[in-house]
Amino acid sequence: MHKVLILDFGSQYTQLIARKIRELGVYSEIMPFNTPLSTIREAGPSALVLSGGPQSVYEKGAPHPPKGIFDLGVPVLGICYGVQLMAYFLGGEVIPTKMREYGFASLRVCDRSGLLAKVKDKEQVWMSHGDRLEKVPPGFVITGSTANTQAAAIENPRRRFYGVQFHPEVIHTKEGRKILANFLFNLAGLEADWDMSSFIERKVTEIRESVGKRKVICGLSGGVDSLVTSLIIHKAIKNQLVCIFIDNGLLRRGQYEDLMEAFRHKFALKVIGIDASDLFLDKLRGITSPERKRKTIGRLFIHLFEREATRIGGAQFLAQGTIYPDVIESNPVKGPSSVIKSHHNVGGLPKGLRFKLIEPLRELFKDEVRALAMELGVDKEFIRQHPFPGPGLAVRVIGEINREILDILRAADDVVVEEIRRAGLYNKLWQAFAVLLPVRSVGVMGDQRTYQRVVAVRLVQSTDGMTANWYPAAPRLLARISTRIVNEVQGVNRVVYDITTKPPGTIEWE
Ligand code: XMP
Repeated sequence: MHKVLILDFGSQYTQLIARKIRELGVYSEIMPFNTPLSTIREAGPSALVLSGGPQSVYEKGAPHPPKGIFDLGVPVLGICYGVQLMAYFLGGEVIPTKMREYGFASLRVCDRSGLLAKVKDKEQVWMSHGDRLEKVPPGFVITGSTANTQAAAIENPRRRFYGVQFHPEVIHTKEGRKILANFLFNLAGLEADWDMSSFIERKVTEIRESVGKRKVICGLSGGVDSLVTSLIIHKAIKNQLVCIFIDNGLLRRGQYEDLMEAFRHKFALKVIGIDASDLFLDKLRGITSPERKRKTIGRLFIHLFEREATRIGGAQFLAQGTIYPDVIESNPVKGPSSVIKSHHNVGGLPKGLRFKLIEPLRELFKDEVRALAMELGVDKEFIRQHPFPGPGLAVRVIGEINREILDILRAADDVVVEEIRRAGLYNKLWQAFAVLLPVRSVGVMGDQRTYQRVVAVRLVQSTDGMTANWYPAAPRLLARISTRIVNEVQGVNRVVYDITTKPPGTIEWE
């Protein structure tokens, strides 16, 4: 099977390149920009892509790939910073410009014999760069330009090196998919021989090889990601996998019982159920900071996994359903971005972890994981369930948590989900949930003054959780939700609707 290797120079879009290439049916992997040449050679890529990145190629400390990547004899596509690197390494010239070019531009194609085959003229492309490619390296020709960037696309067909100053991987570049397909199929000569079932096969082999006869523990959260992780590992090593499902007291109503039943009977997994709600709620007492909540929960999970690992006679591996958005939001390795949230299965891990991690879904987006779940025979209803965060309702009760408050939230949450289902909206939304705020407001019920809690309702649409829009719900639906919560949920006398997109908001409130 062909493989494309993407060298990552820190662009926020690197993962999108991988995803677009996978969508075109070619297996792709991302490696850091400074991966040694010998490792790149060993990986045996059929083509290389150099990603974008926030720096200037000549800046002190700018990320440079190992010398020799242009001598591997494989086709290379440079994107944004990647094309500048190409120019810098191969005898061209890159200069800083006064104005950063950011946003839409219109591409004029002057040569359709290679990378820009069948690409329409004057189509919109997405630019985001500070430096400019002033002189193309020897052997290259300019095949596309924009008003501000003459060398918007350059090509050296003899050596099979190609570069674009714009980002073909983002949807704002209208002909982006065509350009990537031209590179992969026409120029690099690859075939579309990759799909979800080959992903599963590849992971199964990898897991078998790395685990051998040892044991693996996998924490189930109740969501699709950890279930798919378990099913893939189970395929690889059968009963050497022990799943653990913890009732941390932060689950939705009925979730623990329903899920235990499903895990054991529908999916035939070996699952140990642990009721640890007292422990979790005890350790969370008095904590109001979102990050401290997340870290405390992450630590407790690990503590319990370690305890269970000892009980089952030693497990060296911990499997987690980490997916790509969890990784970037918790763990920005490069660039100016900062930690947004410590996702409990990534950033919340304590230092000195005793386990080796297995995270087969680490490179995937949610919709890709859902496609994998289909492939693995998981039923539609389970696959379509809304994502539920690892730290559970703890990040939906703003401020301090206790059993009573969690029960209020559970009741409100039940109403929201029930009404969303009744309105036939559940599958149209990415998530629908209630958040309990730490404020009280005055109300009047009957002839009585009330002074009670506020619930916020959050209904969002999204394709990958990285960005999201609030759902423009019909007033009648909002009215029903509000009336029912105020009437049915003890302790709540006011309901508000959250109309914040992500960014700048996040989906969960904490
Ligand atoms: P935010 O709130 O960061 O959430 O916009 C993006 C998506 O991720 C889910 N989420 C989590 N999932 N562990 C998870 O497995 C976590 O710690 C976590 N925090 C947020 C969230 O529900 C949304 O779908």
